[in-house]
Amino acid sequence: MTERRAVGQVKEVTSLANPIVKDIKSLALKKFRDQRNVFMAEGLKLVIDALDLGWTIETLVFAKSAKGNPVVEKVAARTVAAGGLVLEVTEKVLAAITRRDNPQMVVGVFRQRWKPLSEVRPAAGDVWVALDRVRDPGNLGTVIRTADAVGAKGVILVGDTTDPFSVETVRATMGSVFAVPVAKAGEQEFLAWRKGFSGLVVGTHLKGAVDYRTVPYAGKPVLLLMGNEQQGLPETLASACDRLVLIPQAGRADSLNLAVATGIMLFEIRREALKVVAR
Ligand SMILES: C[S@@+](CC[C@H](N)C(=O)[O-])C[C@H]1O[C@@H](n2cnc3c(N)ncnc32)[C@H](O)[C@@H]1O
Repeated sequence: MTERRAVGQVKEVTSLANPIVKDIKSLALKKFRDQRNVFMAEGLKLVIDALDLGWTIETLVFAKSAKGNPVVEKVAARTVAAGGLVLEVTEKVLAAITRRDNPQMVVGVFRQRWKPLSEVRPAAGDVWVALDRVRDPGNLGTVIRTADAVGAKGVILVGDTTDPFSVETVRATMGSVFAVPVAKAGEQEFLAWRKGFSGLVVGTHLKGAVDYRTVPYAGKPVLLLMGNEQQGLPETLASACDRLVLIPQAGRADSLNLAVATGIMLFEIRREALKVVAR
């Protein structure tokens, strides 16, 4: 597929009343994302990363001002080659789709992808993060980004959680949503899966009796279990852990932010594997 052929298949849209534009705008709501099993990612880099990682693009939207940009036109050609639709729109339409005054010049609509929990089978050295009822999209996005940065294998969402495919979460992942597999499970389903997991399950708890730096993490699969922002880990999940660890604190704060605590834990668990390599 040449770029010229792709350009020939671009639809120009200027009206906010266009039904495709309305459909994409509706993806701000989880109900419509779930109904159509798609989500929106903003920015040229994210869209290129997603295509490179084999995610299925349904629609590519780009600003009129990006017309002629060879990188954008290449992405448009890839979208057409993958059977997707390409829309060239006005800034006004792009601002409405992204609900931003200064929107990115490219937006992609991709198929959602979930890892079935039954396929999560960590091997020695692998690290997975399980988040209990995570509520805040910024926290979830930051955890996914941090999991990516440390080379963790994926994230399991336990119970009723915020949506990894919301615009806010995707923004906070900075593209890592395309690199880190995400599974979801109700608490009972998660506990049943945990019974078949023979690695080390480390829970973090403000009542943990063990300093997180004293646990030997290397050499086995590790599942790091983090509690809900308001309530922490419930007893049902805490009692399923092999160890309950504490990150010692010195000041007046009751606890650390969930994503910060997850980051501290992940860098400790992966300490042996993370070495500075000259580039
Ligand atoms: C904001 S905290 C929850 C605070 C909650 N009020 C409680 O009593 O657990 C969210 C999660 O971050 C982790 N966390 C935060 N600070 C921690 C610390 N100092 N040690 C261990 N885990 C911590 C735990 O997993 C906790 O459930």
